[in-house]
Amino acid sequence: MIAIGSDHGGFELKTHIMEYLKNQGLELFDFGTYSEDSCDYPDIAEKVANAVADGECEKGILICGTGIGISIAANKVKGIRAALCGDVYSAKMTRKHNDANILCMGGRVTGRELAFMICDTFLSEEFEGGRHQNRIDKIHKLED
Ligand code: RB5
Repeated sequence: MIAIGSDHGGFELKTHIMEYLKNQGLELFDFGTYSEDSCDYPDIAEKVANAVADGECEKGILICGTGIGISIAANKVKGIRAALCGDVYSAKMTRKHNDANILCMGGRVTGRELAFMICDTFLSEEFEGGRHQNRIDKIHKLED
C-alpha cells in the first residue's frame, strides 16, 4: 500500500499520479486533500508520514506547490526520510543511497510526464545497504 497526499498546490498532480499508478495495479491510500480549496501542507504531511512510520503503508508520495514545505514537514516525523525529487537520477539515488521512504514533488514545478517517471523510479529502485546503512543510522541518531 502506498500512502499519497497533497495540499491544494499539489492536488492536480496528485490526481494524475493516482490515476497513473492505479492503472499499474498499485494500491493507494489517499490522505487528501480532496479539492483545490486551500489547506495546510503540514496536516497532510503528518498523516502520510505517520502511515509510513507506523508501517501501515510501505512508502509515501507527497506533493505541494514546490514540494519543499511538505518535505520539511514530513521529515519531522521520526523514522521518515522524505526526499524532494525533480529528476529521475535523484529519485533513483535517494532510494539506493538514502533508502528514502517518502517521495516529495512540486506540483507547480514538475511536469506530469516527468513526475510519472520519477514515481516509477522511486517505487522500483532498491536500497543498496552496506556503507549507506551506517549513514542512515547516523541520520536517525539526530532524532534522539
Ligand atoms: C501553497 O500556496 C504553497 O505554499 C505550498 O503548496 C508549498 O509550495 C509550500 O512549500
